[in-house]
Amino acid sequence: MGYPEIRPRRLRRTPAMRRLVAETSLEPRHLVLPMFVREGATEPRPIASMPGVVQHTMESLRKASLEAVEAGVGGIMLFAIPSQKDAVGSGGVDPKGPLNAAIREIVAEVGDATVVMADLCLDEFTDHGHCGVLAPDGTVDNDATLEIYGRMAVAQADAGVHVVGPSGMMDGQVGAARTALDAAGHTDVAILAYAAKYASAFFGPFREAIESSLVGDRTTYQQDPANGLEALRETALDIDEGADMVMVKPAMSYLDVLARVRDLADVPVAAYQISGEYAMIQAAAERGWIDRDRAVLETLTSIRRAGADIVLTYWAVEAAQWLRAAR
Ligand code: PBG
Repeated sequence: MGYPEIRPRRLRRTPAMRRLVAETSLEPRHLVLPMFVREGATEPRPIASMPGVVQHTMESLRKASLEAVEAGVGGIMLFAIPSQKDAVGSGGVDPKGPLNAAIREIVAEVGDATVVMADLCLDEFTDHGHCGVLAPDGTVDNDATLEIYGRMAVAQADAGVHVVGPSGMMDGQVGAARTALDAAGHTDVAILAYAAKYASAFFGPFREAIESSLVGDRTTYQQDPANGLEALRETALDIDEGADMVMVKPAMSYLDVLARVRDLADVPVAAYQISGEYAMIQAAAERGWIDRDRAVLETLTSIRRAGADIVLTYWAVEAAQWLRAAR
């Protein structure tokens, strides 16, 4: 007690005092809800490893989107599960494919009341489950994939999407999407680049969510968890290629990367609290081991504190509703 006058606890004494000095805010507008729609589904299907998250029917997706708008979330991010997959992921480019059809429906429903984003990647649509097409030797063919991403970006933009989210970690994917969009007259469609995306075990439940047929892993295109500097290089490249926003993914194991990317980037930075991060908290809470609601808000606040302007989370609507009620 050498310095009795320095007492940080003074600022923690009452809820009003803590609110006054809080450095980080969490608001509904910061949150983006990822959602899955399954082609041809007649009933929403639960995803066992993501309790509370479903594969939507078009109808339930529409309702959930309206609910998200009502809750005041910043945006929604759409994913689709096609009924047919093939080697080149044709369902992603087809204007009538499930993702493009969903974009069309949802944009018609919500208009500009929220930001409608779509995943721009082939893994949902390929029968081998990789994010790109394969070369004869079985490796993922970067440049052949870029050509398809370009067409997929245009198909999503034609369907009315506000933001495309290239997430396949192919070199040059942001430039390819930007060039294709501009050539098609879609200069207003923005790009949220999954700039620093790691080959993470925490993607596990997502594989179930999209019924992925992947054998093996994505270590030749997603980043090695050992690398931080590489994330800065990836981010700088994406901004150079025309990314309007960049993303770090997953979130919780990469908060240091997020903080460094926030320092470097002069565009909005997003972080994706992914399926495995969701599943861990849901599972521990189901066992009564942690207080779910507090844990959710703590993680979202931490991701914001580390530097995320925008947080993609499967709890977006629920958290937005709590935040509104707490006002
Ligand atoms: C790629 C993509 C993935 C996720 C979002 N976009 C899967 C992957 O890269 O393996 C994962 C999201 C999550 O785990 O919640 N289409």
